[in-house]
Amino acid sequence: MRLGVNVDHVATLRNARGEIYPDPIRFAKVAESAGANNITMHLREDRRHIKDQDIFAIQDHVKIPLNFEIANTTEMIEIALKILPHAVTLVPEKRQELTTEGGLDTQSVDPFLKESISKLIEKKIEVALFLEPDQLSIDFCRQHGGRIIEFHTGAVCIALNRATSDSQRFEIMQPLIEAANYAHKQGVHVHLGHGINYDNARWMQLVPHAVEANIGHAIVAQALDVGFESAVKAMKSLIQDSKHRPHI
Ligand code: PXP
Repeated sequence: MRLGVNVDHVATLRNARGEIYPDPIRFAKVAESAGANNITMHLREDRRHIKDQDIFAIQDHVKIPLNFEIANTTEMIEIALKILPHAVTLVPEKRQELTTEGGLDTQSVDPFLKESISKLIEKKIEVALFLEPDQLSIDFCRQHGGRIIEFHTGAVCIALNRATSDSQRFEIMQPLIEAANYAHKQGVHVHLGHGINYDNARWMQLVPHAVEANIGHAIVAQALDVGFESAVKAMKSLIQDSKHRPHI
């Protein structure tokens, strides 16, 4: 399974102070050299994390493919057609949500979805639809000309985190496994994303035919876990050790 590293929350931290660091492009490069297979960036309508300049810069600085996550709006489709990323993942977007809360709504009719998908595919961009892991969603994906589905794994991941035994976890995985088998039969490629963390990630190996997992929050949080201690030590040394004292 390929790993797509989502660097949105590096940008969240940068923007919180209006600083130029931490820089999502720099950490996309770190992800690339650490073995990530692609970089995911979500340009939201409100630009709360990734900004337009990040999207325009990323492809000049990393060689691995960009998965450009967007809502199906005229503005975003135009940007995608301008930057021509390797892949686009279409997601629902609500202004007030903290993060993408669910898959695309299969009940409400988006008259432009099919058209957007075919415009992107025409430009040789791979298009994934972010949907719930069920048959209805897979059929919806196919009916709209989609060839890749990214299963929203949020609910499964929360359930895995709360489960108290591996036999429970195995049961929790079954609908995801069944949905992946159904997608495969329908000729739809399977990606996974949302809520995957260091406690539940290994369970994703049980999903047959899953070729990609896009993971963000947990990786950024883990970077704090593994790096905070040395960051504190380095800062203490800079303000206390005479070897760092400027001589002028
Ligand atoms: N895939 C999609 C479509 C998403 O919207 C997100 C969240 O931005 C992710 C993957 C990554 O989710 P997480 O940050 O929980 O790993």
